[in-house]
Amino acid sequence: MAAINKNYNILQTGYLFSEIAKRTRAFTEKNPGVSVLRLGIGNTTEALPPSVVSGLQLGVSKLADTTTYTGYGDEQGDSRLRRALADWYSAMGINLDQQEIFVSDGSKTDTANISSIFGSDNIVAVQDPVYPVYVDSNIIAGKGGKYRNGRYSGIVYLDCTDKNNFFPDTPERKVDLIFLCSPNNPTGSVATKAQLKRFVDYARRHEAVIIFDAAYAAYIKDPRLPRSIYEIPGAKECAIEISSFSKWAGFTGVRLGWTVVPMKLRAEGVTNGELNSIWNRRQCTMFNGASNIAQEGGLAVLSKTGQRECQKIIDYYMENARIIREGLRRIGLTVFGGENAPYIWLKVPGNMSSWDFFEKLLIQTHVVGTPGSGFGSLGEGYFRLSAFGHRENIENAIKSIERNILI
Ligand SMILES: Cc1ncc(COP(=O)(O)O)c(C=O)c1O
Repeated sequence: MAAINKNYNILQTGYLFSEIAKRTRAFTEKNPGVSVLRLGIGNTTEALPPSVVSGLQLGVSKLADTTTYTGYGDEQGDSRLRRALADWYSAMGINLDQQEIFVSDGSKTDTANISSIFGSDNIVAVQDPVYPVYVDSNIIAGKGGKYRNGRYSGIVYLDCTDKNNFFPDTPERKVDLIFLCSPNNPTGSVATKAQLKRFVDYARRHEAVIIFDAAYAAYIKDPRLPRSIYEIPGAKECAIEISSFSKWAGFTGVRLGWTVVPMKLRAEGVTNGELNSIWNRRQCTMFNGASNIAQEGGLAVLSKTGQRECQKIIDYYMENARIIREGLRRIGLTVFGGENAPYIWLKVPGNMSSWDFFEKLLIQTHVVGTPGSGFGSLGEGYFRLSAFGHRENIENAIKSIERNILI
């Protein structure tokens, strides 16, 4: 008889967005005619810019002609796109060979799959609070242990609090795989070069590997903050970088990303290039390459015009972030993030729980956000608002909060 993977039974976080949807539905059913303002989900809302649309259209029209038609492409990605990404890194002063860059269908799949090229007894460390995929994918792979007080015994949690500006210190014990997300979802914090250097030094000392999720790198405005972990000397020996066109170019539905596995990456007993070829083997076995249309769009994003046009949309979302941040501060709330990231992380007033604040915000102001506790135990007492949305919606939400919330 077939048996299920019982690790699915101990997953906790899956319920977050369905619970938000359930509670929002209950509210709208009780209050017909009231429209809710959604600042909960990190999904892009603005139309793609013209040069990127042209790129995607080019991809489609190539398929309409047998002389330019392509079917399956290279599992690693279109070599033109890999080269363009290498050039894009090179403009940041980072030299990568295109063979080190693997094009993907977005960063979520790779962040969830990357652990599979490492041994099953590797100790995994994650930030708390953090994007839930890193934890859940490792739980599914059997690394969970017991779940108690919001944490799995098999995972090492790196505390992110207001005391460390929501970026953790290096682990006190030896760990093997460290997931870092900067700019961070949900806290909107961004690691400094000095903070990343401490992790790179730690990883090199312990032969650990950092999985660096840079999905929001394009939102960094402060030029002193690193957009790639490879800005830190030595990182190519100890870090994999996973990134995405989703939030950079509005490709959340188009689906395109990339993962860098440097040739120099080290792990116990491996030779130069071995991890790169293991990831290549994994991708060739389990992935059939990203959409050729999406990749043509990706090339357009990387063009000078594409980058300029995408930046305008990022600026639009970041103006939303400013409106949210300043509005919340005006009513005396303590607010973090939102300066180099599209997420605003607010301290829930009083001793309320994150879910109590969710209810309060919904009932008093009709605004939907995301309870921080859904991102880890240290998210309790915090709340995430997303800057993705139409300006009018954001402005109405903040006006409603300013007018109606009773703190
Ligand atoms: C931190 C982080 N990484 C990765 C992703 C996944 O992005 P995608 O699969 O669209 O590239 C998200 C999506 O919200 C995210 O917040």
